[in-house]
Amino acid sequence: MPFHSRLRRPGTRKAGAAALTVALAVLMAACGGNHPDSIFHQRTDFNRDVDYLFRILIYFGTAVFIFVEAILVWTLIKYRARPGQPEPEHVHGNTTLEITWTVIPLIILVLIGIPTIRTIIRTQAKARSDALQVEVIGHQWWWEFRYPQYTMAGLGGKTDTVVTANELYLPIGKTVNFTLHSKDVIHSFWVPALAGKRDLVTNHTNFLWYTPDSVGTEAFNGACVEYCGTSHANMRFKTFTVSQAQFDSWIENQKQMAVGSAPVAPAAPTQTAGGAVPAGPQTTVAAKSAAPGQQPSTPAANLPGAGVPASPAPAMQVAQAGFIAFPRDSLPAHTIPQTPTPAGLTFDDNLLAKGDAASGAKLMTGAGGCLACHAIRGNPMMIGNIGPNLTHIASRTTIAAGLFPNTPHNLALWIKNARAMKPGVTMYTIGHDQYDPILHASMKAGLFDPQIADIVAYLMTLK
Ligand code: CUA
Repeated sequence: MPFHSRLRRPGTRKAGAAALTVALAVLMAACGGNHPDSIFHQRTDFNRDVDYLFRILIYFGTAVFIFVEAILVWTLIKYRARPGQPEPEHVHGNTTLEITWTVIPLIILVLIGIPTIRTIIRTQAKARSDALQVEVIGHQWWWEFRYPQYTMAGLGGKTDTVVTANELYLPIGKTVNFTLHSKDVIHSFWVPALAGKRDLVTNHTNFLWYTPDSVGTEAFNGACVEYCGTSHANMRFKTFTVSQAQFDSWIENQKQMAVGSAPVAPAAPTQTAGGAVPAGPQTTVAAKSAAPGQQPSTPAANLPGAGVPASPAPAMQVAQAGFIAFPRDSLPAHTIPQTPTPAGLTFDDNLLAKGDAASGAKLMTGAGGCLACHAIRGNPMMIGNIGPNLTHIASRTTIAAGLFPNTPHNLALWIKNARAMKPGVTMYTIGHDQYDPILHASMKAGLFDPQIADIVAYLMTLK
């Protein structure tokens, strides 16, 4: 069958029209609606630059496409083969034509190249010197965020840096410069609503900077976008853009030693900005209030039961004056994880209500073995650096790298059997008689549920 007669078959046209309609419908659906994790929000200088480049290339490319396709279709129809027609004239060796169709694409490539190179130079330039510095460290499978400009005296005269996990706070209007590297394999850091992605590599430091300058107090999803192993998809984080005052309040809280960590080692002297003070449960709080440069109304000090972890603090409600952490009731729905917990893994909430924080603090450095991997600033026993720093874990909205809302119930399940909740996770299975899916064995030496409830009670005081 000759080509031209196939073109005119009505069935082909109908199929073509249907395909075009579907494509247009998909396109329209993609353009409309609420897409909080879309890259087309223009909330930072970075995204505006990239968005501008994307748009002009799309517009320009569309114009070229329409022009070329129009000529092609017109030629196909006008010069289609007809019965008895002589062979058409060949243009091979026509110098004018060959120069023309070499020069036109060259001009097009130059026109594409200029704004592309300009954008690369702008986004790859060094960050401004007054930028907020954030060190991002990728781990299998969680994020460590360090704020090296915010340091304070730690135990034993050493300097501590504000460090958190899986939650990033950025002040609006201030350029943030991320220093990216990895502890293990290659990860990739991406907050789509704010900027492009960038790899985290073990033996090489990458940089990425942008200014979240057109947003208010908002929460954005972030993800790892380089396959990094079993729980690559479960390596998420949140970015909170807040006002400078809110950021300062958050940083001030993060700089504090952990609430209620002192009872574990009552004799150890605690070094604070105010000098050496004995680190008894009550004196820790007193030191916080008295230390120079810290507001007397510093929220942690006003926490009910602060430093006296005899009963669990009212979970989840940060009932202090001022901004401490992003308010949970303001979290947009798309930033609240909906991950189901394993069906066979349960925890009695009545036990959580009876949890004893002081006993939980002891279990963390004792039978719980938490000290092997986790750090809690102000607790000289808790200096592990394999897992996330837990100093202010109760101020975070999620656990397990954005996988579950940070509730006492989820935290209890997590401690009981993290490996059942997140495939491949390095955290041990701690619950007594729990089946460890990595070791393929049940834990005979693990903690019983009331003990886990005690640990949860303690962790929930760590605002
Ligand atoms: Cu880390 Cu994928």
